[in-house]
Amino acid sequence: MRIVSTLKELAQLLSECTKNKSLGLIPTMGALHTGHIALVKKAIDENDLSICSIFVNPTQFNNPSDLEKYPNPLEKDLFLLEQVGCDFVFTPTKEEVYPEGFVSKDFVFGTLDKGMEGANRPGHFKGVAMVVSRLFELIKPQKAYFGEKDFQQLAIIQSMVKQAPFPVEIVPCSIVREASGLAMSSRNMRLNKLQLTAAPRVYQRLFKASKMCSSHSIFEIKTWLKNEFKNDVDLDLEYFEISNPTTLQATTNWSESGRHIACIAVFAGEIRLIDNIMLEIN
Ligand code: PAJ
Repeated sequence: MRIVSTLKELAQLLSECTKNKSLGLIPTMGALHTGHIALVKKAIDENDLSICSIFVNPTQFNNPSDLEKYPNPLEKDLFLLEQVGCDFVFTPTKEEVYPEGFVSKDFVFGTLDKGMEGANRPGHFKGVAMVVSRLFELIKPQKAYFGEKDFQQLAIIQSMVKQAPFPVEIVPCSIVREASGLAMSSRNMRLNKLQLTAAPRVYQRLFKASKMCSSHSIFEIKTWLKNEFKNDVDLDLEYFEISNPTTLQATTNWSESGRHIACIAVFAGEIRLIDNIMLEIN
């Protein structure tokens, strides 16, 4: 496995190795877990070569303490990537990704970035688009792998690729969960013992909400779920939204379309957890 950190090394690596070969990129912020590794495995399966980027992108953090406390176990990450058979790792510095005078393209996301993460984390998606477009320009992958765990992020990236346009295929990957149902996340490492027992309730409630959709209105489901969290001293609900999966506009009525996406953000102490589930209405 070759590890490069500078733009010069990256350019050299790409010119030496990727001629006439397909390249799959997995952008990450490190602190890798089985969810990330599932993306890497898919990239290895579907391409001649795979490259994982590890960069804790400062421009997408709206909360300075979240950035400061973001886990950074680089040695362990490199071990996991080597073990799974990833070909290349790109671990740039902030200065390499954002050199002085760097200007990012401006993207317009319409309804996609107005609610949920967009509403609760101002500037977050601008930062995500900034770093992912930069990675696409530098690496020029044929395919790039993103998790459905960050459903709104995936929609933003798909829109960005069309707008730029970038000649890359975005490959969505299913959410990987712990046995308890908790969606895997780098932030789970920061949960204490009590929070770790509480956190699976996020998915348990989301799952129950998905089962209620054939017999309850959206209003009833939202009221039920809000109540569950109101009575839960360990978890604070930030938002729970049921939306059209294409526009990400909130839905108030089941008749609006066949599929709906239910997205949730919850705080366990100061650790923010997100999750989602697709609802199929017959
Ligand atoms: P990060 O949170 O490290 O996630 C990297 C990729 O792994 C994302 O596409 C995310 O959706 C996916 N992922 C995380 N947990 C997952 C899980 N449990 N199951 C499946 N996929 C999962 O998302 C980011 O980094 C950043 O915003 C990034 C795109 C790298 C830009 O900085």
